Amino acid sequence: RQKNTLAAISAADTADAVEALRVEALGKQGWISQLLKTLGKMTPEERQEQAPAIQQARAAVADAIADRKQAIDDVELDRKLATETLDLSLPAPATPKGTVHPVSQVMDELAEIFADLGFAVKTGPEVEDDWHNFTALNMDENHPARAMHDTFYFPDRDADDRAMLLRTHTSPVQIRTMMNEGAPLRIIAPGRVYRSDSDATHTPMFHQVEGLVIDKDIHLGHLKWTLETFLKAFFERDDIVLRLRPSYFPFTEPSVEVDVGFAIVKGRRVLGGSGDAPGHAWMELLGSGMVNRRVIEFAGLDPDEWQGFAFGVGVDRLAMLKYGMDDLRAFFDGDIRWLQHYGFSP
Ligand code: PHE
Repeated sequence: RQKNTLAAISAADTADAVEALRVEALGKQGWISQLLKTLGKMTPEERQEQAPAIQQARAAVADAIADRKQAIDDVELDRKLATETLDLSLPAPATPKGTVHPVSQVMDELAEIFADLGFAVKTGPEVEDDWHNFTALNMDENHPARAMHDTFYFPDRDADDRAMLLRTHTSPVQIRTMMNEGAPLRIIAPGRVYRSDSDATHTPMFHQVEGLVIDKDIHLGHLKWTLETFLKAFFERDDIVLRLRPSYFPFTEPSVEVDVGFAIVKGRRVLGGSGDAPGHAWMELLGSGMVNRRVIEFAGLDPDEWQGFAFGVGVDRLAMLKYGMDDLRAFFDGDIRWLQHYGFSP
């Protein structure tokens, strides 16, 4: 029977046929398995005599099956290698690539423009405490101006100054930098800020750049010159015209809101020219002012010795104006098609 089985195995030419022979010999009901079972009922002497032959048959059949399976697999592999071909000259499918986001691009542009004016870049934490975000900026606990900011507070909100929140503006970096580095100072502070607000022109997270100059005998003229120089460089136009309007921020005195003149050309806002010129209008662009003496005091400096100006501008707004996007929410959808259209090559 062993001979027949071995012969059948070497004649088998498919994996299925080999498997059927394995079941017939070595499966639960297979003839070799049955023979192995009879060993249990034998006397020790009989067992000693017969066991080697049965074990040898089992090993021979198992080996033959393994060899045959391998041979059949090899043939199959050879056949595949001979008949299947890969065309290595076919172009690879394109993988979609991201781009530099307009917000990152604009922040880089701002850092470069202000570096030319001698400003260093500073950053501060996005998870800020109440004291740096409000109190030190001259908005104490019951100050009505806090209501202008729809603040995201952290849940265990204590009544004290150290309650944590998501910063509502980049102005706390003014305080941190004055405290860490003293005066004089010329810095910008770009970064994310958060307010509970959402529509086509407001997202709960957006970007600002803060500017701060602290030095001696600084006055509004310095502020105006700096903003004009920066906006002309940023928008790459010499005809940028600014209008300074009196306003109110608790941390600046006097406070100045800055408008920029633009024309509507073919349905799009084109910056340049006075907003009072025919076909033109003004658009509010940023908040600024002379740093309030109280703020300089809070930051540990002597306001009789040091003065300065500060401004805060929305980076997303600047990007929209320069590069012509109209829905702010698209900035943060992460849609690769939008990025490929509006983004920049690295
Ligand atoms: N922090 C103000 C805001 O977010 C902007 C500002 C900054 C105004 C600095 C004056 C000076 O609205």
